[in-house]
Amino acid sequence: MGKLIVGNWKMNGLGPALAEAQAVAAGLGGSLGGSGVRVGLCPPATLVERMARCLSGSSVLVGGQDCRAEASGAFTGDVSAEMLSEAGAVLVILGHSERRSGYGETDARVAAKVEAALRAGLEPIICVGETLAEREAGRAVAVVSTQVRGSLPQVLGGRPFSVAYEPVWAIGTGLTPTTAQIEEIHAAVRAEMSAVLGASGTRAPILYGGSVKPDNAAEILSVSEVGGALVGGASLKSADFLGIIAGAG
Ligand code: PGA
Repeated sequence: MGKLIVGNWKMNGLGPALAEAQAVAAGLGGSLGGSGVRVGLCPPATLVERMARCLSGSSVLVGGQDCRAEASGAFTGDVSAEMLSEAGAVLVILGHSERRSGYGETDARVAAKVEAALRAGLEPIICVGETLAEREAGRAVAVVSTQVRGSLPQVLGGRPFSVAYEPVWAIGTGLTPTTAQIEEIHAAVRAEMSAVLGASGTRAPILYGGSVKPDNAAEILSVSEVGGALVGGASLKSADFLGIIAGAG
């Protein structure tokens, strides 16, 4: 199966940044068909609709970075999965560590958001990952396994989704785990996904995220059970992002 490479722009990007998204689409051209690589970009909510419009007709998928579990209501400042979908999103990142740590998002809250994403027809990318303290305490596998078990609702069975393993200490730091460490956690994630969801847990891709760059992408993407990448900083510049995508071919 082709890899899934998704850019997470986080809280970066005003209108002029759409030129980078267009450059990604232009750089991919029609060449994706053969390699089967799927590419997505998740801009801030304010840009989802404009990005979807300017990339329509291209192979690049547009996504949100979070959503509220409820479809509507008195939730000042929040965005629902239905709103993202109406704006043109087809993907949504859920449970990113910056949401888990900054907004106290629990596994149960993430699971409720995953259900909302499916209700709205979005393909969720569900993030998990240990902190440095948890890794140093020898708890990385246990922490990540618990997150997978708690964040993946049963209704995911048979639906398109992915899990992203993002060690918190590798995000935005330039640090990356060894390929052996990535392989160990991805195997644990796969085992947990299969235990929770049965057959469909054996198929959905497991992305790696955390300081993925053009110069380490090919090595990381060749690790067993790495089905793609979730890219933060290096997705803001089309040349870097295209360089990462080239490593997935
Ligand atoms: P990074 O971020 O690539 O800048 O480390 C990854 C992420 O947070 O998804």
